[in-house]
Amino acid sequence: MSDKWLTGTVTENRHWTDNLFSLRVKGAPVAFEAGQFVRIALDIGGERVARAFSFVNPPQDALLEFYGVIVPEGPLSPRLAKLEPGDALYVAGNPAGFLTLSEVPDAETLWLVATGTGLAPFLAILRTEAPWRRFRNVVLVHAVRHASELAYQELIRQTRARYVTFVSREAAPGSLAGRIPAAIADGRLEQAAGVPLAPETSHVMLCGNPQMLKDATAALIARGMRKHRRRTPGHITVESFW
Ligand SMILES: Cc1cc2nc3c(=O)[nH]c(=O)nc-3n(C[C@H](O)[C@H](O)[C@H](O)COP(=O)(O)OP(=O)(O)OC[C@H]3O[C@@H](n4cnc5c(N)ncnc54)[C@H](O)[C@@H]3O)c2cc1C
Ligand SMILES: NC(=O)c1ccc[n+]([C@@H]2O[C@H](COP(=O)([O-])OP(=O)(O)OC[C@H]3O[C@@H](n4cnc5c(N)ncnc54)[C@H](OP(=O)(O)O)[C@@H]3O)[C@@H](O)[C@H]2O)c1
Repeated sequence: MSDKWLTGTVTENRHWTDNLFSLRVKGAPVAFEAGQFVRIALDIGGERVARAFSFVNPPQDALLEFYGVIVPEGPLSPRLAKLEPGDALYVAGNPAGFLTLSEVPDAETLWLVATGTGLAPFLAILRTEAPWRRFRNVVLVHAVRHASELAYQELIRQTRARYVTFVSREAAPGSLAGRIPAAIADGRLEQAAGVPLAPETSHVMLCGNPQMLKDATAALIARGMRKHRRRTPGHITVESFW
């Protein structure tokens, strides 16, 4: 299938740290559901190099927004980080993905659990009406290496989400230490969120580092949860970033 590419224009490239950036792009109208991703691309050495990026903006916003980390050895992300207002960015015309609330069954508590830039799809979901209409509690969990990488805090605090952060490589007041799976296993995560994490009450959406997805899924299975599939409903929905 040949790709249909839209040519967007960068309006802003915000740098949160030396490694983290958020691109805003105009002029590439695409229809999608919050939680989905789209391939974005640059022409590098005569070839179009494309990678999946989750929408940060909710579907109703005309400006697209993407949240990225520089993988120094990667072909695309270091170049995306250098884009400036006025530069062109190609956006594929076919958003996709199943990390969406339309794929999630009803529950009392929705857990949105991310490492690193895996936060992106949840920022879109939090700015739609569905989570607030459908779930009594919404918990956003964000794990990063350093406290300076806790991006989008202001936006998150403007929502009604319970917000739990992990900082793994330095001491950070107000954040949990260590990793998400261990805190699921020993009860620290639900204690910090103030709501139970149980199959009777919860659906968990996980996004980011594939090893975190595996380890967290194992910890949730040990608590009686199971992977969600359309034909066999469960409690765990995942999206791996690599
Ligand atoms: C469905 C989906 C959605 C995605 N959404 C986003 C997003 O919103 N923001 C984003 O930054 N990336 C996202 N990614 C990853 C993205 O597609 C690229 O892989 C990433 O931007 C690096 O591109 P690259 O060409 O520089 O390196 P690549 O050759 O693509 O990656 C090289 C290596 O970098 C590491 N890596 C890749 N992505 C990340 C990451 N996000 N965080 C930490 N390490 C990583 C992995 O070890 C990977 O093998 C998503 C991937 C998928 C599959
Ligand atoms: N973040 C940086 O300081 C930095 C700097 C330069 C370049 N980069 C590039 O960015 C990429 C890494 O980005 P990132 O820091 O956003 O992602 P990351 O390595 O996935 O780390 C994000 C968070 O996920 C945690 N994590 C990792 N594996 C886990 C597992 N199995 N279970 C549970 N939690 C787990 C990490 O904890 P741990 O700390 O315990 O691993 C950290 O808290 C690399 O390619 C690197 O080259 C990052």
